[in-house]
Amino acid sequence: MQFYKLSISEVIKETNDTTSIIFTLPSSRETKFSWDSGQHVMIRVNYEGEYLTRCYSISSWKSLKITVKRIDKGRVSHLVNNSFKVGDLVEVSTPIGKPLINDSNIHTRKTLYLFAAGSGITAFFSMIENILVAQPYSRVNLFYRCRNEKHAIFLKQAKLLEKLYSNRFNFILSYSQPRLFDAVSWHKGAISQNDIADYFTKYAPSAQRCEYHVCGPTSFLNLVSQHLTDLDVPEILLHKQSFEGNEVKADNIQQAKLNVIHPQGTNTIEVNKGESLLSAMKQQGIAPAYSCESGLCGQCQCLLLDGDITMKNNYYLNEPQEKAGLILSCQSYPLSSYVRISHEGN
Ligand code: FES
Repeated sequence: MQFYKLSISEVIKETNDTTSIIFTLPSSRETKFSWDSGQHVMIRVNYEGEYLTRCYSISSWKSLKITVKRIDKGRVSHLVNNSFKVGDLVEVSTPIGKPLINDSNIHTRKTLYLFAAGSGITAFFSMIENILVAQPYSRVNLFYRCRNEKHAIFLKQAKLLEKLYSNRFNFILSYSQPRLFDAVSWHKGAISQNDIADYFTKYAPSAQRCEYHVCGPTSFLNLVSQHLTDLDVPEILLHKQSFEGNEVKADNIQQAKLNVIHPQGTNTIEVNKGESLLSAMKQQGIAPAYSCESGLCGQCQCLLLDGDITMKNNYYLNEPQEKAGLILSCQSYPLSSYVRISHEGN
């Protein structure tokens, strides 16, 4: 992954606390910046003398766009929302992460059910645009949950797509705290299993192939995934993405001895409580390959040989890889007092 200085071509205020930034791609770098739906970029900014790196979903299929919600104490999100302006140069990485769809076949016929909450919608938008344009026989159903209309990101864009692709795109809004005059297309209040069953009945699949994607805060992700599983949606068709990451419970995390096998030899080092395996290795000058430190690029993957760990975020490894013992050292925290890993493969 490399960083390039890209100029901001457009700043779009999506809501009071969310801003989209579109970057200009110089033609000489266009091939390096080709991306698939569901991929991310990192941006690196100088914040009061400190370099901070953050990872954001690419929120469009047509242009290199990120959409950033301002969060409490989020230094970079504040900078993006309050200070970024057209013409500014920003250090942006080449796209990283696994694509959400890897199917460019124009004849594909599938039905997608997307469940997004809050800024989780940003991870889906590029996929929606891509499928509606490039797969004329596929259908997309987007269920979007947010506080109320004031907080609805991409509301206009979604309504426009609904008009343009009225027979292939359904947009369903659900507000948790609707205001008096908010027009809700479907449902208010907590989401129950029956609500989702009704939703499937109303927007029944139009093709045999179905996919289910859920993205949002962990509580939303767990609730919707559980409802889907209870409605017999096979695990293999269910793709989950939490932008909060798994909660790593401090009580369970151990100070541990880490035995690392790497191409230069073997070392045993101490991992302090709350420190990731990668960060402990960096402290000790053992530098396996790594890049994003966000669980996206997969460069820090290694094999867990002994002990137990928990991963905070994993946007890279699939279930069979995890079952085979692969872990991402940048996201791994020890749950046992001894952990042994091999970084020999990379
Ligand atoms: S460094 Fe990218 S996934 Fe760990």
